[in-house]
Amino acid sequence: MHGADPRLVLGLHRSRHRRDLLTAALDLGVTALDTAAPYLGFRSHLALAETAADLLPKFTLSTKVGFFPSAGGTEHSLDPVRLRLAVERAARELGGEPDTVLLHNPERSLAGLSPAHGRALLGKACTVLADAARDGLCRTWGVASWDTQSLGMVRVEGLPSPDVLMVRAGLLVGVDLLDATNVLRTAWQADETWGMSPFGGGHRKVWEDFDPRPFLRPPHDLSRVQAAFRTAFHLPVAAAMAVGTDDPGHLVQLVQAMAAEVDIAAVSQYLRALHGLRQGSSSATRRPASFRAGASSGSSSYA
Ligand SMILES: NC(=O)c1ccc[n+]([C@@H]2O[C@H](COP(=O)([O-])OP(=O)(O)OC[C@H]3O[C@@H](n4cnc5c(N)ncnc54)[C@H](OP(=O)(O)O)[C@@H]3O)[C@@H](O)[C@H]2O)c1
Repeated sequence: MHGADPRLVLGLHRSRHRRDLLTAALDLGVTALDTAAPYLGFRSHLALAETAADLLPKFTLSTKVGFFPSAGGTEHSLDPVRLRLAVERAARELGGEPDTVLLHNPERSLAGLSPAHGRALLGKACTVLADAARDGLCRTWGVASWDTQSLGMVRVEGLPSPDVLMVRAGLLVGVDLLDATNVLRTAWQADETWGMSPFGGGHRKVWEDFDPRPFLRPPHDLSRVQAAFRTAFHLPVAAAMAVGTDDPGHLVQLVQAMAAEVDIAAVSQYLRALHGLRQGSSSATRRPASFRAGASSGSSSYA
């Protein structure tokens, strides 16, 4: 976390991009926005420029490139020329350069490739974004990955090291993905890790059945949802968290939650328990070697 306070980033994935939400965010001291070229049906950048051009300079803004409109709806590409044009287009549509440009879910274009081909493609895509930062099209660049297990199939050591690695975070993320994220960020040495989607996009009912408040140090008077949000900054440890809301009242609750302190020992105990459960279930299902022969034949070509 580099000693700095963790930051709340207002994510616009499911947002209606209403101006009043952006003014509410600024009033609450939330000064980071995260969007992506495909959000709002590929209109997010234009909508922000149309409705909030005067507000945008007050935010630090991250956006993502990698998805493109296609005849069938949306397609993913790591083609260097398309990525460069997408970064230039983002700056044009927004009416100014975004602070950060992230490669959007690169694992989508890597599936099925050989490790060498995947690594070469990812390396070229990273170089496009690093060059964009060098050319002043953004201040920093990074990689947003929804599935670090898939991305981790490519050896990233020696590829351009991103300023930001943005990954899924929170109590709804499985231990295998958390482990894959930790391996990836150690290998890639990103300057900062940002979390995203701490509620998995919604799933409010989960918190009726599960109370995450023991993860916070008392005293506090936060709700279960607030505790889930605050705890997400430690699963994995993240300097910033992109969370979505269209409700200024919910944003107030999220900002309040930032003041709480997470009980690191409780989080460590939780992770140990998850690892223990996984070990238990894998040894319970362990079969004789003869039954396992060929078990990896259907696995990814990165294995
Ligand atoms: N790279 C990727 O593929 C990717 C994928 C997903 C997300 N992201 C990033 O992460 C951001 C957040 O992800 P997300 O919006 O999908 O998921 P999320 O933040 O986990 O969940 C958003 C949902 O949580 C609800 N919520 C927020 N605060 C609440 C509160 N205080 N009380 C009750 N409900 C609350 C919101 O409903 P209300 O509107 O009613 O508050 C919304 O339905 C995105 O905007 C984007 O920046 C990136």
